[in-house]
Amino acid sequence: MSLIVNPSNRAIRMPPRAIPLLALVTALCAACNGRSSQNASAAAAPAPTHEHSSGSERGCPHLQAYSEQLDEQQRDEWQRPEGVIELLECRVGMTVVDLGAGTGYFLRYLSEAVGREGHVLALDISRSSINWMSSRIEREGLPNVRPEMVAPDDPGLSPRSVDRILVANTWHHISGRVDYAEKLLAALRPGGLLLIVDFTIDSPEGPPPQMRLTYDTVMRELEGAGFAVEVVQEELPYHYVIAGRVP
Ligand SMILES: C[S@@+](CC[C@H](N)C(=O)[O-])C[C@H]1O[C@@H](n2cnc3c(N)ncnc32)[C@H](O)[C@@H]1O
Repeated sequence: MSLIVNPSNRAIRMPPRAIPLLALVTALCAACNGRSSQNASAAAAPAPTHEHSSGSERGCPHLQAYSEQLDEQQRDEWQRPEGVIELLECRVGMTVVDLGAGTGYFLRYLSEAVGREGHVLALDISRSSINWMSSRIEREGLPNVRPEMVAPDDPGLSPRSVDRILVANTWHHISGRVDYAEKLLAALRPGGLLLIVDFTIDSPEGPPPQMRLTYDTVMRELEGAGFAVEVVQEELPYHYVIAGRVP
């Protein structure tokens, strides 16, 4: 998959069987946030935040339901995790971050991409996510993956300590995003890459519309933080992908 400039006006086609899955994601986003889309409509425009509570059990209370109900094989059809990981340009031995790792959906792909010499940091603000991922990491045998709880406003990464950062379905949850992106940029090594994967505005399902961010808003936020930014051409039916590179 290569780099281009403008995904706007792209028609979003949705396989009918994906609709219930995306409806679940919508419900989960609302549940994680602890407020309905009606409440969300009162949130401030123009670049709202689907913000979670501070790092605690309140972060995402329905992980069991999330993991049981979201059939991962079916999710694979529209999330296309291998394609996403390919866009991240991982190499063996790298240190990669999965920011807002949730139930750890991407972890086995990241683990494989960086190999035994590499490291995967699975960061989340939710204690229940961390606990869930710890079990999953053990069950799936991913010795190079380490889950870690972080503060909502700080990924807690040392300067120039990581090579890649994946932020999937999570950027819209973060508040103070330009400041946050500055921290991510500082954490990346030369040649480093940040990948933001989030729902398109015109996707018929996903987070509440008021909570979504346009791809150009995300681009402006990353540029504001000092990244060299590109829109990445992808084959995802519901998402855009923005790349931020260390200039
Ligand atoms: C919709 S889930 C996405 C999970 C995973 N990335 C995926 O695509 O399956 C969003 C996750 O981001 C986490 N999150 C929200 N705000 C965050 C923040 N400021 N820093 C780190 N994680 C955060 C939530 O706790 C939740 O687990």
